[in-house]
This record gives sequence, C-alpha cells and structure tokens, in this order.
Amino acid sequence: MINDTLILVNKENGLPSSYIPTDLELIDHKFAYDNKYLRKEARHSIEKLGSDALSLGYKIVVVSAFRDYKYQHDLHHEYIKVKGLEDAQLCSARPGYSEHQTGLAIDAMGSNNDYNLFEDSIEFKWMKNNAHKYGFILRYPKDKTNITGYKYEPWHYRYVGLKAALDIYKNDLTLEEYIKKQT
Ligand code: DAL
Ligand code: ZN
Repeated sequence: MINDTLILVNKENGLPSSYIPTDLELIDHKFAYDNKYLRKEARHSIEKLGSDALSLGYKIVVVSAFRDYKYQHDLHHEYIKVKGLEDAQLCSARPGYSEHQTGLAIDAMGSNNDYNLFEDSIEFKWMKNNAHKYGFILRYPKDKTNITGYKYEPWHYRYVGLKAALDIYKNDLTLEEYIKKQT
C-alpha cells in the first residue's frame, strides 16, 4: 500500500506523479536545515534521534527530506546535465521513483557540514550503530548496488519502523532483501 511504512520505492517500483503523503509535518529547525517535511511517524523519530544524538555531542541535520515529483524531476535533470545519464542514474532517481517522494527518507549532514562527506563525520559512526534504534536504515549500503541500483550513499536513511530496522541492521540487509524475505 502506498501509505505503508514499508513501501518499496526503487528503480522498478514507482509512485504516481501526484502522490503527496497526507500526514507530512515540518521537522523542528533544530534538526533540519530550513523547512523540511516528513510523514508524522518519521518526523517524530528523526527529532528523537536528533535530540538524543545532540545530548551526546553529535550534530545531525536533515538537509533533504520529502521531495515532490516536480522537485525530483528538476533535480534529476540537473544531475544528468552535470554528470551525464549513466552516472546520474547511479546516484539520482528518476521523478516518481525517488524514496524522497514517500516522505520517509532523509539525507543527513554531520558536524563537518557537508552531506557528501557525511561518511567522514563522527555523526556517521553514531548513525551506523544507532539509526535502527529509531526505525531508520542506511538505504544504499556499500557493495549493494547490484540490489539497490544505487551507489553507496552514507547520508541517505529511510524510515521503516523499529521492527524492520532492527532485522535489516542485524542481518545486514537491504530493504529489497528484507521485503523479499517477508513474502
Ligand atoms: N539519491 C536517491 C537515490 C534519490 O534520488 O532518491
Ligand atoms: Zn537521499
């Protein structure tokens, strides 16, 4: 179902161009750059994550969250212009095929202030060990391009809920593998 927390959006499974979740909420500016929106449950969890991280000295800022079809369209075409089609397709989803349109995905930035360099930040190490406790998974892990269709993205996390996140974390799975296991 389109509003299921476990919805699979990837190169094979898209969303209607008009789809906008009905329960989008603004993320507290303490944890996000500018106005960023997520679905209610994911918004609540990312704020809890951000707040717990902050209390331990880790500064995690959401730099991208919900993106509508038109936004993804323009972004994707910008990537194609800069990188060429083949490279762009490994790091940017076609409009209608981005997880960001679900309102359940974020791109995170750490205290080194560049989401592209998130892997080098202390926050990345914390996220690696703790994101699942808040229902988030690293969505495009290293060496899983053959399954996810995308290059490693240390900054992109997807909300799937606590149960799925724990299973995915413990068993080193992608969302594709987890969903397959359930059916
Ligand atoms: N960077 C991810 C794959 C997206 O564009 O949704
Ligand atoms: Zn992303």
